Amino acid sequence: MKKLKAALLGAGNRGQIYCDYALRCPDELEVVAVVDINPFKMDEAGDKYGIEKEMRFTDLDAFIAQKVACDFVVNATMDEMHYETAMKLIEAGYNLILEKPITGKLEELLDIEKAAKRNGVKVLVCHVLRYTPFYRSIKELIDSGHIGKVMNMQLNEHVWYGHFVNSYVRGKWRSEKMCGSGLLLAKCCHDTDLICWLNNVSAPTKVSSFGSKSFFTEKNAPEGATQYCYECPQRNNCMFDAYKFQIEKDFIPFYTWADLNKPLDDITLEEKIEFLKHDVYGQCVYKTDMDIVDRQCVSVEFENGSIATLNMVGGASKAGRHIHVICEYGEVVGYIEENKYVVRVFDQDEIGCKEEVVDLNQVNSIDGEEDNSVAGHYGGDHFMMKDAVRYFNGVCNSVSVTKIEDSLNGHYVCYAAEISRKEKKVVDLNFNQ
Ligand SMILES: NC(=O)c1ccc[n+]([C@@H]2O[C@H](COP(=O)([O-])OP(=O)(O)OC[C@H]3O[C@@H](n4cnc5c(N)ncnc54)[C@H](O)[C@@H]3O)[C@@H](O)[C@H]2O)c1
Repeated sequence: MKKLKAALLGAGNRGQIYCDYALRCPDELEVVAVVDINPFKMDEAGDKYGIEKEMRFTDLDAFIAQKVACDFVVNATMDEMHYETAMKLIEAGYNLILEKPITGKLEELLDIEKAAKRNGVKVLVCHVLRYTPFYRSIKELIDSGHIGKVMNMQLNEHVWYGHFVNSYVRGKWRSEKMCGSGLLLAKCCHDTDLICWLNNVSAPTKVSSFGSKSFFTEKNAPEGATQYCYECPQRNNCMFDAYKFQIEKDFIPFYTWADLNKPLDDITLEEKIEFLKHDVYGQCVYKTDMDIVDRQCVSVEFENGSIATLNMVGGASKAGRHIHVICEYGEVVGYIEENKYVVRVFDQDEIGCKEEVVDLNQVNSIDGEEDNSVAGHYGGDHFMMKDAVRYFNGVCNSVSVTKIEDSLNGHYVCYAAEISRKEKKVVDLNFNQ
C-alpha cells in the first residue's frame, strides 16, 4: 500500500485528532500542508506534524492557487464553513475527508454530492461511529442474514450534562443561527446515519419528530440570577456556576479555553477568571443565547415497512448510546459504552431464544496501541483514518466506508425531522426524486 499525503484544513480539535494518525502510522500517512485562518492553530499543527513553513497557509485560496499535491484534504472546519470550503476543494480536484454534519442545507448537500461526481473526487464523511468495533460488528451480523431483515430499531442517545452544558448551552453548537446546525444534526446525525446504514437494504421514506427546549430556560434560573456567574448572588447554590464548572471541574478544556489561543498548560488561573467575566462560558446556563432543543425524538419509516426511533436527551446524569435492533429471527441489544452487546436468536425447538454476549473488549485494543488517547469515539476516530488511507489507496472493502453517496440518507432524516418538529407534520422523504 502506498504511503499517502494529506493536507489539513481547519487545525482545531477534530482536525488534529484525525491527522495524529500520521504520527501513529508514519508508514501510511504524512501531513504535508496545513490551512487555518488562525495562525496559532496553523503553527500548532505545523510544528506537530513537521510541516515546512511554505506549506502553512492562513487562506484556502492561497493553498489551492499553489496547487499543493496531496492524496486528500481533511476538512475539519466548523459546520457553517463546510459547504464553501468543500466546494472550492472539490472543484480544484481534491479528495476529501469531510467533517459531519456535511451541511445544514439540503441544496448544499446535493451540490457537494453532484460536484464530487462531476469532478471524479472521493468524499468521505466523518461518521466515525460506523468504524467502531461495536457498530461495525452489529452491521456485519445484520448483513450476514443470521437474524433476518431489520424490522425495528430503537436508538437512544443520552448526552451527559457536563458535555451538554459545555457544547450546547455555553458552547459553540448552542445556536443554530450561528453554527448552521440544530442539536439533532450536530449531535445525532451519527445516529440517523447508523439507522440508515444498518438498514440500507431499504430507504427511509417518512419521518416525524417532536422536541423543544425545556430545562435551560430563563424561567428556571434561580431568583436574582445575573447574566454572568462571577457576580451572581446565587452562585454558591448553583451546580452550573461557571467557576465551579469551567475552572474547578474544567470539563472539556479544549473547548472552553480555545479562544485564548494558547497551549492549555500555559493559561493561568487569572486569565481564566478574567475570560469568564465576558465570554459565554462564564454565563448563566439559563440565560445564554442557546436557541436549540434539549430533547428530541424521531420516528422513521422505511420503504420496506421497517421502522426506527431515536431518542435524544441533552443533560442526562450519565452518557449512554443504546441500541436495540429487532430482526425477523433475533435481536441485538447493547450500550456502546460497554463495548459489548447481546444477540438473541429465536430457538424454534424450545419456543424461546438462545442468548449470546459478544464482548468486543477482548478484541478492541485499538490496533494494539496501549495509549487510550487513540480510543476517541470508542476507536471510531482511529479506525476511520485507517479505512480512509485504504479507501484513498483503492484497497478498502470495509462495510463502514462513509462515502458521501452512502451518507445522504442520515442527513435527509435530520432535515425532515426538523421540518416535522417545527411544522408539526409527518414529512415525506422525496428529496432526491
Ligand atoms: N465526527 C465527530 O464525531 C465530531 C465530533 C465533534 C465535532 N465534529 C465536527 O468537527 C468540526 C470541527 O470541530 P472542532 O471542534 O474541531 O472545531 P475547532 O473550532 O476546534 O476547529 C476548527 C478550525 O477551523 C479553523 N477555520 C475556521 N474557518 C476556516 C477557514 N475558512 N479556513 C481555514 N480554517 C478555518 C478555525 O480557526 C479552527 O482552528 C465541526 O464541524 C464539528 O461539528 C465532529
